[in-house]
Amino acid sequence: MNFPILTPREAAELVNHNDNVGFSGFTASGSPKVVTEAIAQRAEEEHAAGRPFKINLFTGASTSDHADGALARANAINMRTPYQSTPDLRKRLNEHDAHYFDVHLSDLAQSMRYGTYGDIDVAIVEVADVDDEGNVVLGTGVGNINTYVAQAKRVILELNEKLPAALRGMHDLYMPADPPYRREIPIYKASDRIGDAVMKIDPKKIAGIVRTNLHNGVKAFSALDDTTLRIGHNVCGFLESELRSGRIPSTFLPIQSGVGNVANAVLYGLGESTVIPSFEMYTEVIQDAVLDLMKKGKCTFGSTCALTVSDEAEEDLFNNLDFFRDKVALRPVEISNNPEVVRRLGVISMNTAIEADIFGNVNSTHVTGVRMMNGIGGSGDFTRNAYISIFSCPSITKAGQISNIVPMVSHVDHSEHSVDIIITDQGVADLRGKDPLQRAHEIIDNCAHPAYRELLRDYLKLCRMGQTPHRLECALEFHNEFNRSGDMRNVDWARFK
Ligand code: COA
Repeated sequence: MNFPILTPREAAELVNHNDNVGFSGFTASGSPKVVTEAIAQRAEEEHAAGRPFKINLFTGASTSDHADGALARANAINMRTPYQSTPDLRKRLNEHDAHYFDVHLSDLAQSMRYGTYGDIDVAIVEVADVDDEGNVVLGTGVGNINTYVAQAKRVILELNEKLPAALRGMHDLYMPADPPYRREIPIYKASDRIGDAVMKIDPKKIAGIVRTNLHNGVKAFSALDDTTLRIGHNVCGFLESELRSGRIPSTFLPIQSGVGNVANAVLYGLGESTVIPSFEMYTEVIQDAVLDLMKKGKCTFGSTCALTVSDEAEEDLFNNLDFFRDKVALRPVEISNNPEVVRRLGVISMNTAIEADIFGNVNSTHVTGVRMMNGIGGSGDFTRNAYISIFSCPSITKAGQISNIVPMVSHVDHSEHSVDIIITDQGVADLRGKDPLQRAHEIIDNCAHPAYRELLRDYLKLCRMGQTPHRLECALEFHNEFNRSGDMRNVDWARFK
């Protein structure tokens, strides 16, 4: 191989304080794993010597404990975007040790190319294979790496021996021209391939290769409980009734499914449904459940930015690449989540909310309005452009101390204008064609937990009428009460009468 072999430490020495660093991958999949830990160690040493060392970190989405986790613990991150989900980094950004800004995932690559955030100094790329001309086969997550590499002054490769070179053929790498020269992205069905199977890196930029041999470390989901199963059942019931009514064509439409336990339960429900036909996915993440659906023939194709599957499922995937290769397209996130394509294909979006309010606004990111959980991720890319946009969540959290249906959300990620359907373990609220007051009754009657329905109805009685009835001095009283007593059920409206 033409390129120098480096130790992780030697590679980390190529990264400087204040550098803009771009990582490959999307979630833990495809994210670099050992140079990141060496950068963290270097930062600790620099800090101990009294010198500053922090990087500005651009990724596709979340990474893993090897990357965000290690770097956060070392306090080595100055600026971070566009998404994260690691407890140590979450703590740092909520304490303002790291400056995190939350953007729609599909936006970041083009913003980088437009020059909004400066150039990339170093791109660190996990690869399954590389040849002497700098053609690489990426790992199981793509993210924004084609843009970061195009912009980078130097590139470090992590060649992961866990990844088979036979992944070649699964990727579909395409970068649109920038305005005013952009044309349509020529995807007319989820399974259309429009780009390259390998990513070309200018060999002059490749500073070296670090060998690794590590799984992504994705854990299998917790067993489905009653609540998540009921949500999954309700989502499927809704989709089946849309299909029967003809509002969804009989051939069905591509599905986008979000991340987390609830999303996993929804996919499980789709697999069980005898009414919903085989379908394609146009989504950003494929989880274990989708690989099972592919084996059953229920999901025929998955366009995605990452295969975020457990280590066991990944072994199975790698052992059966000939079966899966033509059923998966791994794309850059600006394509997997592209608003133009989502609108054209008629994608049915299914995402999870932290809380929703009685008028249909959704908070996906902030716990009690102030603490960042993960980020908006791709939920806005899909929701705003979906054929039907669905949000689901449990009706209550923390043994009922929190109602996930509230009078007013404490942070807005998806406004009432973009949210069609809300689904909880209690039932389905169809918000389409309803005015704000009608939506409020629909959501309270069908989605709120019985322990909170009267409290929510009583709130409406207190409200000053207008198109959207609210009583601003107590619109956030559910959250205030939770902060006071630890239980939203203690809300006492009498104080406001
Ligand atoms: N108030 C306070 N905490 C809440 C809450 C609320 N209203 N709703 C949920 N939580 C807490 C849960 O208790 C849980 O906490 P724990 O980890 O301490 O147990 C945590 O949030 C996650 O909730 P859970 O019910 O397990 O949901 P999930 O795993 O399905 O994740 C989101 C839900 C919203 C955090 C997650 O889907 C997300 O980050 N979404 C935004 C990005 C996105 O939608 N991407 C998909 C695009 S493809």
